[in-house]
Amino acid sequence: MRRKVTVVGAGFVGATTAQRIAEKNLADVVMIDIPEKEGPTKGKALDMLEAAPLVGFEAHIEGTSDYAAMAGSDVVVVTAGVPRRPGMTREDLISINANIIRSVTEQVVKHAPEAIYIVVTNPLDAMVYAAYKLSGFPPERVIGQSGALDSTRFRAFIAMELGVSMRDVHALVIGGHTDVGMVPLVSCSSVAGIPLTKLLPRERIDALVERTRKGGTEIVQLLGDGSAYYAPSAGVAAMVEAILLDEKRVIPSACYLRGEYGLRDLYLGVPAVLGAKGVERILEIELAPEEHEQLRKAAELVRETVSKLTL
Ligand code: LAC
Repeated sequence: MRRKVTVVGAGFVGATTAQRIAEKNLADVVMIDIPEKEGPTKGKALDMLEAAPLVGFEAHIEGTSDYAAMAGSDVVVVTAGVPRRPGMTREDLISINANIIRSVTEQVVKHAPEAIYIVVTNPLDAMVYAAYKLSGFPPERVIGQSGALDSTRFRAFIAMELGVSMRDVHALVIGGHTDVGMVPLVSCSSVAGIPLTKLLPRERIDALVERTRKGGTEIVQLLGDGSAYYAPSAGVAAMVEAILLDEKRVIPSACYLRGEYGLRDLYLGVPAVLGAKGVERILEIELAPEEHEQLRKAAELVRETVSKLTL
């Protein structure tokens, strides 16, 4: 049977996510956006489909404003929401995006109650918590995309600094998807197995960590209108692939915590094993005391944002 992924929100993140999933032949893709955007949504889907003979994929792509089209989806990805503009933090988006998550979640519960639900909308850790609470889905089926993006940024910056292949760099960023809440784990970063600390002096590593924390803001400033989408959609596609192919890949993701890392009843980025069931396991690793303190602070920040939600 063919697999199916629905992407809600056909903006830049949603459309590039749909494109990546289709081009990898992972699943048929449905893109859903509001009725006012039905024309552009259908247009983007058709445009992608017309590339299939050249790119070489069999996946079907449909654009619609009808939520019923998500029925039978294995995975639903929500990217809908307003993006940041220069000068805004992700937290500034909370009230408008919370309403969007509420109405999208109602539709997911109605039309795709068995799906694994991936949230991309910012402020990420609060929005995925809202989606979890509102959906009533088990926590392993509601996951936030954050660490995949933050970690790929850290990897890219390390590779550029050292002039080595991006593929040989591994790095792990956990914590909140905010400039201050992010916890890049230097102790878990390496190049072909060589610890990063053996390759770069402390001050260069600190600069890369700082650039990673502000990675989203750097793109917002450069674009001038809207936020990043190429790397975010690559993060989602990696998560979707891990789930659909039951890969058991270790991808840092915003997961519901029930005591892991001493935290409970909140979503925060942690290393997760992703497979057919969604979050199949959270890897709990020993952190240095300052890393643990950073994670605790990140949790506090997320709780503060969540307290502004009426769920
Ligand atoms: C970023 C936004 C999309 O980090 O959260 O680029």
